[in-house]
Amino acid sequence: MGKKVYLTDAGEEMQRYSSAVLATLAEADQVFDEMRGLGRGRLRIAVASTANYFVPQLLASFCQRYPGVQVSLDVTNRKRLLEALSDNETDLVIMGKPPDSMELVSESFMDNPLVAIAPPSHPLAQEKDIPLERLQEETFLVREKGSGTRSATERFFVEHGVSLSSTMEMSSSESIKQGVEAGLGFGLLSLHTLEMELALKRLVVLDVRELPILRKWYIMHRSGKRLSGVAKSFKEFVLGESKAILNLPTLPARN
Ligand code: PGA
Repeated sequence: MGKKVYLTDAGEEMQRYSSAVLATLAEADQVFDEMRGLGRGRLRIAVASTANYFVPQLLASFCQRYPGVQVSLDVTNRKRLLEALSDNETDLVIMGKPPDSMELVSESFMDNPLVAIAPPSHPLAQEKDIPLERLQEETFLVREKGSGTRSATERFFVEHGVSLSSTMEMSSSESIKQGVEAGLGFGLLSLHTLEMELALKRLVVLDVRELPILRKWYIMHRSGKRLSGVAKSFKEFVLGESKAILNLPTLPARN
């Protein structure tokens, strides 16, 4: 149509089947890589954009141990990760709560607290034990639909009977942090995205009574998927060593 090519329904079916064939061939390739020698081969991982704040650090340690491994890392939001799992485009996925709608093997390896952030100059920044209703009138910068952070945040406010009067949607944690720093509003993000801003005192975590939202990080793959040796090693590495390798911010103890 015009100068563009659109797929017919049959074309779309063909595209789905072709992708599945290509994914299976890639899997076969991995198996042969593995037969050629231990610690070699390709590792395809896809992670939630929020996990991108610590996964490269894990990869660096893993690749130091297995220098022959070739890594491809896809960073995207939860909705896209579910598609990658369902289309077998990836070996392993790291994200928040696994969906019930798909048969997956998933294991949690670390807590993922979600916290409210504000600029240090905001009057609430100094207060202790703030009830959630006090945030109701503030503007909140929220992630795009399809993000795990966004759905956890929405569920949290509904569960606590709080409806926000004003929200502004942004498609990355990075822009939310910049927006909060600039005074556009508050944000609710994983503590693991905030290391630099908290260390440099550009943002503060508000002491809200009902927070943090307690989530966990999971590593997962489709059940029935034949994991390559490299993928198996990476999964074991993440489950066993993440906590020791990562130096992520922690929440101050409550009195
Ligand atoms: P997100 O995912 O980066 O899509 O918000 C985080 C999560 O799944 O908890």
